[in-house]
Amino acid sequence: MTSAHQGLTGLLDTEAIRKDFPLLDRVVHDGKKIVYLDSAATSQKPRQVLDALNQYYERHNANVHRGVYTVAEEATALYEGARDKVAAFINAPSRDEVIFTKNASESLNLVANMLGWADEPYRVDHETEIAITEMEHHSNIVPWQLLSQRTGAKLKWFGLTDDGRLDLSNIEEVITEKTKIVSFTLVSNLLGTVNPVETIIRRAQEVGALVCIDASQAAPHMVLDVQALQADFVAFTGHKMCGPTGIGVLWGRQELLEDLPPFLGGGEMIETVSMHSSTYAPAPHKFEAGTPPIAQAVGLGAAVDYLSAIGMENIARHEHAITEYAVRRLQEVPDLRIIGPTTAEDRGAAISFTLGDIHPHDVGQVLDEQGIAVRVGHHCARPVCLRYGIPATTRASFYLYSTPAEVDALVEGLEHVRNFFG
Ligand code: ALA
Repeated sequence: MTSAHQGLTGLLDTEAIRKDFPLLDRVVHDGKKIVYLDSAATSQKPRQVLDALNQYYERHNANVHRGVYTVAEEATALYEGARDKVAAFINAPSRDEVIFTKNASESLNLVANMLGWADEPYRVDHETEIAITEMEHHSNIVPWQLLSQRTGAKLKWFGLTDDGRLDLSNIEEVITEKTKIVSFTLVSNLLGTVNPVETIIRRAQEVGALVCIDASQAAPHMVLDVQALQADFVAFTGHKMCGPTGIGVLWGRQELLEDLPPFLGGGEMIETVSMHSSTYAPAPHKFEAGTPPIAQAVGLGAAVDYLSAIGMENIARHEHAITEYAVRRLQEVPDLRIIGPTTAEDRGAAISFTLGDIHPHDVGQVLDEQGIAVRVGHHCARPVCLRYGIPATTRASFYLYSTPAEVDALVEGLEHVRNFFG
């Protein structure tokens, strides 16, 4: 094993942490232990989360907000308790500002639909504009395209610089007096770029536009304080932050959630219903039609407990050290081109690259044969690939359980890929 990573500081005790994650012990291909470098797609789950899911189903399973019997009250307390945990995790002023959804895509679609059906002053129509960026995940592009097609609103976006950052040089043309909503990612899932939130929010506030932040690649990795961010909506998903799939979060400012209309109708979101009309429950229930993802919320609550016990500052410090090391080591690989920032400053732990003219799918397959799991493709951010003139990338992404030895394994694996393809 190389000693290139000796002297790295700020690392977590990964030996202890990895014992919590059963999947990291998996053996794949010829007895090789998995090197899991795809946490930006989904994180692995600690035993504490798996136990909470099991406990819920084995001891407390019932529908919420309905039954008067003991187990139903326990289920409700667990579900609402998860809301309290998430509210504290993101420093929300009120627990009622935390809406549970299925995933970040649903959270972002919810915002788009709230605005599409809203009355003035929020309504998006043919006289208004929507601003996004070229580095968005499809989940923060398509809902706005749909809204723009339905309402006639003009969709605008910030382009990208050659080094993978937002080009804000024309900020006054992209965000104008007509802009109703600015929606952008805090951290790019493909480029890894961490965006300058304050600059964008300042301009949005100048023109009175609402701001929606996609924090899917931020909430798992850094302190997320919605009050400090000063956005109006923040969306993220549970499965990238040690929680189960099927649970997402939309945080929204209370007065907006009071004013804006629901998107999905059904049970749980109402106050009264007659055959002619209905009135709605207050937020967050107004936006949670039907039986919610109860077990998944409980699992997310356990994930929040798990991450909080380790400390988000400590996790961020660990990932910064790993990212700095990975960016440095990857650049030693001949013909490797990082797509995105080439330093660890203002960058997250997802690193995309190309390797000469070897197709990323081939890179991924040869790495897989060595037990190394990376994601290949356009990463649901195809406009970024178009911008840089490439069909796809290979992406390695790191988390609290990632080690420098895994970075070394990736670099050695890439050498093997190069030899394999001559
Ligand atoms: N959004 C996830 C990713 O970037 C699936 O891989």
